[in-house]
Amino acid sequence: MSLLKVGMIGWRGMVGSVLLDRMREEKDFALIEPVFFSTSNVGGQAPAEANGAALLDAKDISHLRLMDVIITCQGGDYTTEIHPQLRAVGWGGYWIDAAKTLRMKEDAVIILDPVNMPAIKNALAAGVKDFIGGNCTVSCMLMGLAGLFKADLIEWMTCMTYQAASGGGATHMRELLLQFGLLHAEVSVLLDDPHAAILEIDRKILARQRALSADETQYFGVPLAGNLIPWIDKDMTAMGQPGMSLEEWKGMAETNKILGRGDGFAKPATPIDSLCVRVGAMRCHSQALTIKLTRDVPLAEIEAIIANDNTWVRVIPNERERSIRELTPAAVTGSMQIPVGRLRKLAMGSQYLSAFTVGDQLLWGAAEPLRRMLRIVVEK
Ligand code: HSE
Repeated sequence: MSLLKVGMIGWRGMVGSVLLDRMREEKDFALIEPVFFSTSNVGGQAPAEANGAALLDAKDISHLRLMDVIITCQGGDYTTEIHPQLRAVGWGGYWIDAAKTLRMKEDAVIILDPVNMPAIKNALAAGVKDFIGGNCTVSCMLMGLAGLFKADLIEWMTCMTYQAASGGGATHMRELLLQFGLLHAEVSVLLDDPHAAILEIDRKILARQRALSADETQYFGVPLAGNLIPWIDKDMTAMGQPGMSLEEWKGMAETNKILGRGDGFAKPATPIDSLCVRVGAMRCHSQALTIKLTRDVPLAEIEAIIANDNTWVRVIPNERERSIRELTPAAVTGSMQIPVGRLRKLAMGSQYLSAFTVGDQLLWGAAEPLRRMLRIVVEK
């Protein structure tokens, strides 16, 4: 049996590189015939998995249309430009990406197979060809809380997010580190002196933050180092969602689509409200959740439901030491595990639950659902 031809696009970028690493770790390349494309280095050298073949032009429809599957991390503009052209020439292959372009389209499925495998299987059987990774915040949250959703235990939820620089891209991570360096340089002499006044250090840091140039804040617009930014992505006011950011809108829209709830589905939508905040973490998104349960369930049972849902979720006991060691971006980065902790019933009543979860937004938040979808297609 011949292997599926899989066109790889955007594999050199940050998400694409994480995807390639994961595909190598899981030996996915043994199951496919990869064909590497490029938007910037056509004819250049492809990764070893290409067996010496040169990079093809990622905008050349005549090459792309020969693929059984296209998996792209090139971003939304690429999808907007290329996907309609491919479909217009009758290409019937599987399109797998992580961009928001197609996500909410009726004939596309948002992929997070540990959570919505039945929907993915049904869609494959029905001939759906567009399988799109979800927003990173949504995917990481659902990997942690899927058990509660599947048990119909969530009446509504709020997500207060603490999102890493990587959500903006590699450039944003560099900008954060550059700013940290500039701030440190400003006070390094004073830091060397244990007797230097902390308020003097603080004043200098603030002055430097406020004096950061347009170049030093070109990606975030304002300082992120030693600061936070309580708005992520576009303003949805003109789209009929006053005072809501696009990232916050996705929290409810995408979660419900993944769960098969809301418009077009048999079950009503679960209200989910978010307040999304950028913080100076590198690549893990964290979220503090307040949940109204549909019924009063003992905490131990809630912990078991969460922990037993999938291989990757881990309940962290709500204790100081475990929380500060295991429930942080620094602890979780690079790991496939999704810890959920700070679980406790709230003073407002026994149907109210708080939780805190952390996820590597480049793994479950971006690359992993794509490579898993590729496997599902290959093993179909
Ligand atoms: N929009 C997300 C963020 C990343 O800015 O953190 C992509 O899902």
